[in-house]
Amino acid sequence: MTVESVKRAAHTAPEVRGATELREPPLAGGGVPALGHGWQLARDPLAFMSRLRDHGEVVRLKLGPKTVYAVTTPALTGALALSPDYLIAGPLWESLEGLLGREGVATANGPLHRRQRRTIQPAFRLDAIPGYGPIMEEEAHALTERWKPGETIDCTSEAFRVAVRVAARCLLRGEYMDERAERLCAALATVFRGMYQRMVVPLGPLYRLPLPANRKFNRALADLHLVVDEIVAERRASRQRPDDLLTALLEAKDDNGDPIGEQEIHDQVVAILTPGSETIASTIMTLLQVLADHPEHADRVCAEVESVTGGRPVAFEDVRKLGHTNNVVVESMRLRPAVWILTRRAVTETELGGYRIPAGADLVYSPYAIQRDPRSYARNQEFDPDRWLPERVQEVPKYAMRPFSVGNRKCPSDHFSMAMLTLITAALAAAFRFDQVAGSNDSTRVGITLRPHRLLLRATPR
Ligand code: HEM
Repeated sequence: MTVESVKRAAHTAPEVRGATELREPPLAGGGVPALGHGWQLARDPLAFMSRLRDHGEVVRLKLGPKTVYAVTTPALTGALALSPDYLIAGPLWESLEGLLGREGVATANGPLHRRQRRTIQPAFRLDAIPGYGPIMEEEAHALTERWKPGETIDCTSEAFRVAVRVAARCLLRGEYMDERAERLCAALATVFRGMYQRMVVPLGPLYRLPLPANRKFNRALADLHLVVDEIVAERRASRQRPDDLLTALLEAKDDNGDPIGEQEIHDQVVAILTPGSETIASTIMTLLQVLADHPEHADRVCAEVESVTGGRPVAFEDVRKLGHTNNVVVESMRLRPAVWILTRRAVTETELGGYRIPAGADLVYSPYAIQRDPRSYARNQEFDPDRWLPERVQEVPKYAMRPFSVGNRKCPSDHFSMAMLTLITAALAAAFRFDQVAGSNDSTRVGITLRPHRLLLRATPR
Protein backbone atom coordinates (compact mmCIF):
# COMPACT_ATOMS: atom_id res chain seq x y z
CA MET A 1 0.00 0.00 0.00
CA THR A 2 1.43 3.42 -0.91
CA VAL A 3 1.24 6.57 1.17
CA GLU A 4 -1.10 7.99 -1.43
CA SER A 5 -3.47 5.03 -1.37
CA VAL A 6 -3.54 5.09 2.43
CA LYS A 7 -4.36 8.76 2.28
CA ARG A 8 -7.11 8.31 -0.29
CA ALA A 9 -8.68 5.31 1.38
CA ALA A 10 -8.35 6.41 4.95
CA HIS A 11 -8.59 10.13 4.84
CA THR A 12 -10.96 12.01 2.57
CA ALA A 13 -12.55 15.40 3.18
CA PRO A 14 -16.11 14.96 4.56
CA GLU A 15 -17.67 17.06 1.81
CA VAL A 16 -16.24 14.63 -0.80
CA ARG A 17 -17.62 11.52 0.87
CA GLY A 18 -20.87 13.11 1.96
CA ALA A 19 -21.42 13.72 5.64
CA THR A 20 -24.16 11.09 5.87
CA GLU A 21 -21.72 8.26 5.20
CA LEU A 22 -19.56 9.12 8.17
CA ARG A 23 -20.01 7.16 11.36
CA GLU A 24 -19.27 8.09 14.91
CA PRO A 25 -16.39 5.99 16.23
CA PRO A 26 -17.47 3.32 18.76
CA LEU A 27 -16.96 4.02 22.44
CA ALA A 28 -14.17 1.94 23.99
CA GLY A 29 -15.44 -0.56 26.56
CA GLY A 30 -14.79 -0.46 30.29
CA GLY A 31 -15.54 3.20 31.04
CA VAL A 32 -16.99 4.06 34.44
CA PRO A 33 -19.39 6.91 35.29
CA ALA A 34 -17.72 10.32 35.81
CA LEU A 35 -14.15 9.09 35.26
CA GLY A 36 -14.79 7.39 31.90
CA HIS A 37 -11.64 5.59 30.79
CA GLY A 38 -9.31 7.84 32.76
CA TRP A 39 -8.76 5.34 35.55
CA GLN A 40 -7.77 2.58 33.09
CA LEU A 41 -5.43 4.94 31.32
CA ALA A 42 -3.85 6.01 34.59
CA ARG A 43 -3.64 2.47 36.04
CA ASP A 44 -2.09 0.61 33.12
CA PRO A 45 -1.75 2.87 30.09
CA LEU A 46 0.20 0.42 27.93
CA ALA A 47 -2.25 -2.46 28.36
CA PHE A 48 -5.19 -0.09 27.92
CA MET A 49 -3.86 1.42 24.69
CA SER A 50 -2.95 -2.05 23.38
CA ARG A 51 -6.52 -3.34 23.80
CA LEU A 52 -8.23 -0.49 21.96
CA ARG A 53 -7.98 -1.98 18.45
CA ASP A 54 -10.37 -4.75 19.59
CA HIS A 55 -13.04 -2.03 19.78
CA GLY A 56 -12.43 -0.42 16.39
CA GLU A 57 -9.97 1.36 14.11
CA VAL A 58 -10.89 4.69 15.70
CA VAL A 59 -12.50 4.60 19.15
CA ARG A 60 -13.84 7.24 21.47
CA LEU A 61 -12.40 7.50 24.96
CA LYS A 62 -14.04 9.46 27.76
CA LEU A 63 -11.50 11.18 29.95
CA GLY A 64 -13.72 12.85 32.54
CA PRO A 65 -16.01 15.14 30.53
CA LYS A 66 -13.70 15.16 27.53
CA THR A 67 -13.92 12.90 24.46
CA VAL A 68 -10.61 11.83 22.94
CA TYR A 69 -10.31 9.81 19.73
CA ALA A 70 -7.84 6.94 19.77
CA VAL A 71 -6.49 5.72 16.44
CA THR A 72 -5.52 2.06 16.51
CA THR A 73 -4.33 0.78 13.10
CA PRO A 74 -0.97 1.36 11.42
CA ALA A 75 -2.58 2.71 8.22
CA LEU A 76 -4.71 5.24 10.08
CA THR A 77 -1.86 6.44 12.29
CA GLY A 78 0.09 7.02 9.06
CA ALA A 79 -2.85 8.90 7.57
CA LEU A 80 -3.20 10.99 10.74
CA ALA A 81 0.49 11.91 10.86
CA LEU A 82 0.55 12.79 7.15
CA SER A 83 -2.65 14.82 7.04
CA PRO A 84 -2.59 18.64 7.15
CA ASP A 85 -5.93 18.56 9.03
CA TYR A 86 -4.24 17.80 12.36
CA LEU A 87 -1.72 19.80 14.29
CA ILE A 88 0.43 19.35 17.35
CA ALA A 89 -1.69 20.01 20.40
CA GLY A 90 -3.37 18.23 23.24
CA PRO A 91 -2.51 17.66 26.88
CA LEU A 92 0.98 16.27 26.24
CA TRP A 93 2.06 19.30 24.24
CA GLU A 94 0.28 21.82 26.41
CA SER A 95 2.12 20.58 29.47
CA LEU A 96 5.45 20.69 27.59
CA GLU A 97 4.71 24.14 26.20
CA GLY A 98 3.88 25.61 29.58
CA LEU A 99 7.18 24.47 31.02
CA LEU A 100 9.59 24.55 28.14
CA GLY A 101 8.44 27.50 26.05
CA ARG A 102 6.02 28.24 23.26
CA GLU A 103 8.37 29.20 20.47
CA GLY A 104 10.34 25.99 19.90
CA VAL A 105 10.00 23.65 16.94
CA ALA A 106 8.44 20.79 18.94
CA THR A 107 5.37 22.79 19.92
CA ALA A 108 5.00 25.38 17.12
CA ASN A 109 2.50 24.90 14.29
CA GLY A 110 1.86 26.35 10.82
CA PRO A 111 4.27 28.81 9.14
CA LEU A 112 6.37 29.27 12.31
CA HIS A 113 6.94 25.52 12.49
CA ARG A 114 7.83 25.31 8.77
CA ARG A 115 10.35 28.12 9.11
CA GLN A 116 11.90 26.54 12.21
CA ARG A 117 12.21 23.15 10.53
CA ARG A 118 14.03 24.79 7.64
CA THR A 119 16.49 26.31 10.13
CA ILE A 120 17.28 23.15 12.07
CA GLN A 121 17.08 20.60 9.24
CA PRO A 122 20.62 21.08 7.83
CA ALA A 123 22.15 20.05 11.18
CA PHE A 124 20.36 16.67 10.94
CA ARG A 125 20.74 15.94 7.24
CA LEU A 126 22.24 12.59 6.32
CA ASP A 127 25.38 14.26 4.98
CA ALA A 128 25.86 16.25 8.22
CA ILE A 129 25.96 13.15 10.45
CA PRO A 130 29.53 11.99 9.68
CA GLY A 131 30.70 15.36 11.06
CA TYR A 132 29.42 14.18 14.47
CA GLY A 133 31.20 10.83 14.14
CA PRO A 134 34.31 11.70 16.21
CA ILE A 135 32.21 12.97 19.14
CA MET A 136 29.89 9.97 19.04
CA GLU A 137 32.89 7.63 18.98
CA GLU A 138 34.62 9.45 21.82
CA GLU A 139 31.51 9.36 24.00
CA ALA A 140 30.73 5.70 23.24
CA HIS A 141 34.27 4.61 24.20
CA ALA A 142 34.39 6.95 27.20
CA LEU A 143 31.31 5.16 28.49
CA THR A 144 32.96 1.75 28.32
CA GLU A 145 36.11 3.15 29.96
CA ARG A 146 34.14 4.60 32.88
CA TRP A 147 32.78 1.20 33.85
CA LYS A 148 35.03 -0.87 36.06
CA PRO A 149 34.77 -4.68 35.98
CA GLY A 150 32.42 -5.97 38.62
CA GLU A 151 31.09 -2.62 39.83
CA THR A 152 27.37 -1.91 39.73
CA ILE A 153 26.31 0.41 36.93
CA ASP A 154 23.33 2.66 37.52
CA CYS A 155 22.08 2.67 33.93
CA THR A 156 19.66 5.59 34.37
CA SER A 157 22.29 8.19 35.19
CA GLU A 158 24.87 6.71 32.81
CA ALA A 159 22.44 6.66 29.88
CA PHE A 160 21.27 10.21 30.57
CA ARG A 161 24.81 11.40 30.83
CA VAL A 162 25.94 10.06 27.47
CA ALA A 163 22.71 11.15 25.72
CA VAL A 164 22.96 14.75 26.92
CA ARG A 165 26.68 14.94 26.23
CA VAL A 166 26.35 13.71 22.66
CA ALA A 167 23.39 15.99 21.83
CA ALA A 168 25.00 19.04 23.48
CA ARG A 169 28.50 18.48 22.12
CA CYS A 170 27.38 17.64 18.56
CA LEU A 171 24.72 20.28 18.11
CA LEU A 172 25.97 23.14 20.28
CA ARG A 173 29.69 22.44 19.88
CA GLY A 174 32.35 23.88 22.17
CA GLU A 175 34.76 22.76 24.86
CA TYR A 176 32.83 24.61 27.52
CA MET A 177 30.05 22.11 26.88
CA ASP A 178 31.50 19.40 29.11
CA GLU A 179 30.59 21.02 32.41
CA ARG A 180 27.30 22.32 30.99
CA ALA A 181 26.39 18.87 29.74
CA GLU A 182 26.59 17.60 33.33
CA ARG A 183 24.33 20.40 34.56
CA LEU A 184 21.89 19.86 31.72
CA CYS A 185 21.84 16.21 32.57
CA ALA A 186 20.93 16.77 36.21
CA ALA A 187 18.33 19.41 35.37
CA LEU A 188 16.64 17.42 32.61
CA ALA A 189 16.32 14.26 34.70
CA THR A 190 14.37 16.16 37.37
CA VAL A 191 12.35 18.22 34.89
CA PHE A 192 11.16 15.17 32.94
CA ARG A 193 10.08 13.34 36.08
CA GLY A 194 8.12 16.41 37.25
CA MET A 195 6.58 17.08 33.86
CA TYR A 196 5.13 13.61 33.57
CA GLN A 197 3.68 13.88 37.05
CA ARG A 198 2.09 17.24 36.19
CA MET A 199 0.63 15.76 33.03
CA VAL A 200 -1.00 12.67 34.55
CA VAL A 201 -1.91 14.20 37.91
CA PRO A 202 -2.87 17.77 36.94
CA LEU A 203 -3.17 19.29 40.39
CA GLY A 204 -2.62 22.83 39.08
CA PRO A 205 -2.05 25.23 41.99
CA LEU A 206 -0.75 22.45 44.27
CA TYR A 207 2.40 22.38 42.17
CA ARG A 208 3.00 25.99 43.13
CA LEU A 209 3.12 25.26 46.87
CA PRO A 210 6.62 25.59 48.37
CA LEU A 211 6.97 21.83 48.98
CA PRO A 212 10.43 20.22 48.70
CA ALA A 213 9.50 18.30 45.51
CA ASN A 214 8.10 21.43 43.84
CA ARG A 215 11.14 23.45 44.86
CA LYS A 216 13.47 20.81 43.43
CA PHE A 217 11.49 20.80 40.18
CA ASN A 218 11.51 24.61 39.93
CA ARG A 219 15.23 24.77 40.65
CA ALA A 220 15.93 22.21 37.93
CA LEU A 221 13.74 24.03 35.42
CA ALA A 222 15.40 27.36 36.25
CA ASP A 223 18.85 25.79 35.87
CA LEU A 224 17.90 24.28 32.51
CA HIS A 225 16.90 27.71 31.22
CA LEU A 226 19.98 29.31 32.78
CA VAL A 227 22.40 26.84 31.16
CA VAL A 228 20.76 27.46 27.79
CA ASP A 229 21.09 31.26 28.27
CA GLU A 230 24.75 30.81 29.22
CA ILE A 231 25.45 28.68 26.15
CA VAL A 232 23.86 31.25 23.84
CA ALA A 233 25.57 34.23 25.54
CA GLU A 234 28.96 32.55 25.52
CA ARG A 235 28.72 31.66 21.83
CA ARG A 236 27.76 35.25 20.98
CA ALA A 237 30.63 36.65 23.06
CA SER A 238 33.12 34.28 21.38
CA ARG A 239 32.19 35.70 17.96
CA GLN A 240 32.84 32.23 16.56
CA ARG A 241 30.56 30.74 13.93
CA PRO A 242 31.19 26.97 13.82
CA ASP A 243 29.01 25.11 11.35
CA ASP A 244 26.46 23.86 13.86
CA LEU A 245 22.88 24.09 14.94
CA LEU A 246 23.49 26.97 17.34
CA THR A 247 25.04 29.11 14.61
CA ALA A 248 22.05 28.27 12.38
CA LEU A 249 19.68 29.42 15.13
CA LEU A 250 21.64 32.59 15.91
CA GLU A 251 21.67 33.56 12.24
CA ALA A 252 18.08 32.51 11.44
CA LYS A 253 15.74 35.10 9.96
CA ASP A 254 11.99 35.34 10.33
CA ASP A 255 9.58 35.61 7.39
CA ASN A 256 10.30 39.35 7.10
CA GLY A 257 14.03 38.73 6.88
CA ASP A 258 14.64 40.04 10.44
CA PRO A 259 16.74 38.10 12.99
CA ILE A 260 14.58 35.85 15.16
CA GLY A 261 14.01 36.98 18.75
CA GLU A 262 15.98 35.94 21.83
CA GLN A 263 13.03 34.00 23.23
CA GLU A 264 12.72 31.96 20.06
CA ILE A 265 16.44 31.12 20.03
CA HIS A 266 16.20 30.05 23.66
CA ASP A 267 13.06 27.98 23.16
CA GLN A 268 14.54 26.32 20.08
CA VAL A 269 17.62 25.15 21.97
CA VAL A 270 15.41 23.80 24.75
CA ALA A 271 13.02 22.18 22.24
CA ILE A 272 15.89 20.29 20.64
CA LEU A 273 17.85 19.31 23.74
CA THR A 274 14.91 18.05 25.76
CA PRO A 275 13.39 15.54 23.32
CA GLY A 276 16.91 14.68 22.19
CA SER A 277 18.21 13.60 25.57
CA GLU A 278 15.22 11.86 27.17
CA THR A 279 14.46 9.68 24.11
CA ILE A 280 18.06 8.62 23.54
CA ALA A 281 18.70 7.98 27.24
CA SER A 282 15.58 5.80 27.53
CA THR A 283 16.55 3.83 24.43
CA ILE A 284 20.10 3.27 25.70
CA MET A 285 18.67 1.89 28.97
CA THR A 286 16.44 -0.47 26.98
CA LEU A 287 19.41 -1.54 24.85
CA LEU A 288 21.50 -2.27 27.94
CA GLN A 289 18.68 -4.40 29.29
CA VAL A 290 18.46 -6.25 25.96
CA LEU A 291 22.21 -6.96 26.01
CA ALA A 292 21.88 -8.39 29.53
CA ASP A 293 18.69 -10.39 28.85
CA HIS A 294 19.65 -11.76 25.43
CA PRO A 295 23.30 -12.84 25.69
CA GLU A 296 23.00 -14.76 22.42
CA HIS A 297 22.27 -11.49 20.58
CA ALA A 298 24.93 -9.62 22.56
CA ASP A 299 27.41 -12.30 21.40
CA ARG A 300 26.24 -11.93 17.81
CA VAL A 301 26.70 -8.15 18.02
CA CYS A 302 30.19 -8.65 19.45
CA ALA A 303 31.09 -11.14 16.69
CA GLU A 304 29.75 -8.77 14.04
CA VAL A 305 31.78 -5.87 15.44
CA GLU A 306 34.93 -8.00 15.50
CA SER A 307 34.41 -9.18 11.93
CA VAL A 308 34.03 -5.58 10.77
CA THR A 309 36.79 -3.98 12.85
CA GLY A 310 39.27 -6.86 13.12
CA GLY A 311 39.63 -6.05 16.82
CA ARG A 312 40.26 -2.28 16.73
CA PRO A 313 37.82 0.01 18.57
CA VAL A 314 34.57 0.35 16.64
CA ALA A 315 34.38 3.59 14.66
CA PHE A 316 31.60 5.71 13.24
CA GLU A 317 32.39 4.56 9.66
CA ASP A 318 31.69 0.97 10.72
CA VAL A 319 28.07 1.70 11.58
CA ARG A 320 26.61 1.09 8.13
CA LYS A 321 28.24 -2.38 8.05
CA LEU A 322 26.74 -3.41 11.40
CA GLY A 323 23.53 -4.94 10.10
CA HIS A 324 22.70 -7.19 13.07
CA THR A 325 23.55 -4.47 15.58
CA ASN A 326 21.20 -2.13 13.74
CA ASN A 327 18.46 -4.79 13.84
CA VAL A 328 18.97 -5.23 17.59
CA VAL A 329 18.46 -1.48 18.01
CA VAL A 330 15.32 -1.48 15.84
CA GLU A 331 13.80 -4.52 17.57
CA SER A 332 14.50 -2.98 20.98
CA MET A 333 12.75 0.21 19.83
CA ARG A 334 9.82 -1.86 18.58
CA LEU A 335 9.20 -3.58 21.88
CA ARG A 336 9.83 -0.60 24.13
CA PRO A 337 9.58 2.57 22.04
CA ALA A 338 10.83 5.63 23.87
CA VAL A 339 7.98 7.68 22.41
CA TRP A 340 4.96 5.57 23.29
CA ILE A 341 2.12 8.06 22.93
CA LEU A 342 1.45 10.89 20.50
CA THR A 343 -1.37 13.38 20.25
CA ARG A 344 -2.84 15.64 17.60
CA ARG A 345 -5.78 18.06 17.35
CA ALA A 346 -8.15 18.30 14.39
CA VAL A 347 -8.12 21.84 12.95
CA THR A 348 -11.32 21.25 11.01
CA GLU A 349 -14.09 18.68 10.86
CA THR A 350 -12.63 15.77 8.97
CA GLU A 351 -12.76 12.01 8.62
CA LEU A 352 -10.46 9.16 9.38
CA GLY A 353 -11.17 5.59 8.26
CA GLY A 354 -14.81 6.49 7.51
CA TYR A 355 -15.36 8.04 10.94
CA ARG A 356 -16.30 11.65 11.58
CA ILE A 357 -13.72 13.60 13.58
CA PRO A 358 -15.13 16.91 14.81
CA ALA A 359 -13.16 20.16 14.58
CA GLY A 360 -11.11 20.70 17.74
CA ALA A 361 -11.10 16.99 18.66
CA ASP A 362 -8.02 15.62 20.43
CA LEU A 363 -6.62 12.42 18.96
CA VAL A 364 -4.17 10.03 20.48
CA TYR A 365 -2.25 6.96 19.33
CA SER A 366 0.35 4.72 20.78
CA PRO A 367 3.43 3.56 18.85
CA TYR A 368 3.81 0.96 21.65
CA ALA A 369 0.41 -0.57 20.86
CA ILE A 370 0.96 -0.38 17.10
CA GLN A 371 4.44 -1.94 17.28
CA ARG A 372 3.32 -4.85 19.48
CA ASP A 373 0.08 -5.65 17.71
CA PRO A 374 -0.22 -9.39 16.90
CA ARG A 375 -2.14 -8.42 13.74
CA SER A 376 1.08 -6.82 12.45
CA TYR A 377 3.77 -9.03 13.99
CA ALA A 378 4.04 -12.82 14.21
CA ARG A 379 5.22 -13.79 17.72
CA ASN A 380 4.64 -10.16 18.58
CA GLN A 381 6.08 -10.25 22.13
CA GLU A 382 9.23 -12.07 21.11
CA PHE A 383 12.56 -10.25 20.79
CA ASP A 384 13.56 -11.22 17.25
CA PRO A 385 16.00 -8.80 15.55
CA ASP A 386 15.99 -11.03 12.44
CA ARG A 387 12.48 -9.89 11.61
CA TRP A 388 14.25 -6.79 10.21
CA LEU A 389 16.33 -8.82 7.71
CA PRO A 390 15.62 -7.65 4.14
CA GLU A 391 13.86 -10.91 3.23
CA ARG A 392 11.46 -10.67 6.20
CA VAL A 393 10.91 -6.96 6.58
CA GLN A 394 8.18 -6.94 3.90
CA GLU A 395 5.95 -8.89 6.31
CA VAL A 396 5.63 -5.75 8.45
CA PRO A 397 2.62 -3.62 7.44
CA LYS A 398 3.24 -0.03 6.41
CA TYR A 399 3.35 2.37 9.38
CA ALA A 400 3.55 -0.53 11.85
CA MET A 401 7.09 0.55 12.78
CA ARG A 402 7.61 4.29 12.73
CA PRO A 403 9.41 5.09 16.01
CA PHE A 404 10.40 8.50 14.60
CA SER A 405 6.91 9.13 13.14
CA VAL A 406 6.21 10.36 9.59
CA GLY A 407 5.02 13.56 7.97
CA ASN A 408 5.88 17.15 8.80
CA ARG A 409 6.46 16.40 12.53
CA LYS A 410 8.75 13.44 11.90
CA CYS A 411 11.72 13.47 14.22
CA PRO A 412 14.47 15.44 12.49
CA SER A 413 17.02 13.33 14.32
CA ASP A 414 16.26 9.85 12.93
CA HIS A 415 19.64 9.38 11.17
CA PHE A 416 21.54 11.06 14.02
CA SER A 417 19.82 8.85 16.60
CA MET A 418 20.20 5.57 14.72
CA ALA A 419 23.90 6.21 14.09
CA MET A 420 24.53 7.03 17.74
CA LEU A 421 22.48 4.12 19.13
CA THR A 422 24.08 1.57 16.80
CA LEU A 423 27.57 2.82 17.62
CA ILE A 424 26.96 2.77 21.38
CA THR A 425 25.41 -0.72 21.25
CA ALA A 426 28.37 -1.98 19.24
CA ALA A 427 30.93 -0.44 21.61
CA LEU A 428 29.17 -1.80 24.71
CA ALA A 429 28.60 -5.33 23.40
CA ALA A 430 32.18 -5.56 22.14
CA ALA A 431 33.58 -4.53 25.52
CA PHE A 432 31.37 -6.31 28.07
CA ARG A 433 28.92 -9.01 28.98
CA PHE A 434 26.16 -7.63 31.20
CA ASP A 435 24.12 -9.14 34.01
CA GLN A 436 21.42 -7.57 36.13
CA VAL A 437 22.31 -7.41 39.81
CA ALA A 438 20.27 -7.52 43.01
CA GLY A 439 18.05 -4.46 43.35
CA SER A 440 17.69 -3.99 39.59
CA ASN A 441 14.11 -3.39 38.48
CA ASP A 442 13.74 -3.83 34.73
CA SER A 443 9.95 -3.48 34.57
CA THR A 444 8.76 -0.77 32.21
CA ARG A 445 8.42 2.66 33.76
CA VAL A 446 5.80 4.74 32.02
CA GLY A 447 6.69 8.40 31.90
CA ILE A 448 7.00 10.89 29.07
CA THR A 449 9.09 8.08 27.59
CA LEU A 450 9.25 4.34 28.33
CA ARG A 451 12.30 2.88 30.02
CA PRO A 452 13.26 0.39 32.72
CA HIS A 453 12.42 1.54 36.25
CA ARG A 454 15.89 1.19 37.67
CA LEU A 455 18.28 -0.94 35.72
CA LEU A 456 21.40 -1.97 37.62
CA LEU A 457 23.99 -4.00 35.75
CA ARG A 458 27.35 -5.60 36.32
CA ALA A 459 29.75 -5.40 33.40
CA THR A 460 32.23 -8.24 32.85
CA PRO A 461 34.96 -7.52 30.30
CA ARG A 462 34.96 -9.88 27.30
C1 HEM B 1 10.01 14.76 17.23
C2 HEM B 1 11.06 10.16 18.37
C3 HEM B 1 15.66 11.44 19.25
C4 HEM B 1 14.56 16.06 18.37
C5 HEM B 1 9.93 13.39 17.41
C6 HEM B 1 8.75 12.59 17.12
C7 HEM B 1 9.04 11.31 17.46
C8 HEM B 1 10.40 11.29 17.94
C9 HEM B 1 8.12 10.10 17.37
C10 HEM B 1 7.46 13.09 16.50
C11 HEM B 1 6.48 13.57 17.51
C12 HEM B 1 5.11 13.72 16.89
O1 HEM B 1 4.84 13.21 15.81
O2 HEM B 1 4.26 14.32 17.54
C13 HEM B 1 12.39 10.13 18.71
C14 HEM B 1 13.10 8.93 19.11
C15 HEM B 1 14.39 9.29 19.36
C16 HEM B 1 14.50 10.72 19.12
C17 HEM B 1 12.46 7.55 19.22
C18 HEM B 1 15.57 8.47 19.78
C19 HEM B 1 15.51 7.21 20.13
C20 HEM B 1 15.76 12.79 19.06
C21 HEM B 1 17.00 13.56 19.18
C22 HEM B 1 16.68 14.87 18.93
C23 HEM B 1 15.25 14.92 18.66
C24 HEM B 1 18.36 12.97 19.52
C25 HEM B 1 17.56 16.10 18.93
C26 HEM B 1 18.80 16.11 19.25
C27 HEM B 1 13.22 16.09 18.02
C28 HEM B 1 12.51 17.33 17.71
C29 HEM B 1 11.20 16.94 17.40
C30 HEM B 1 11.13 15.49 17.50
C31 HEM B 1 13.09 18.74 17.72
C32 HEM B 1 10.05 17.87 17.00
C33 HEM B 1 9.93 17.92 15.50
C34 HEM B 1 8.78 18.77 15.00
O3 HEM B 1 7.77 18.88 15.69
O4 HEM B 1 8.89 19.26 13.88
N1 HEM B 1 10.92 12.58 17.89
N2 HEM B 1 13.26 11.17 18.74
N3 HEM B 1 14.74 13.65 18.73
N4 HEM B 1 12.37 15.01 17.89
FE1 HEM B 1 12.86 13.11 18.19
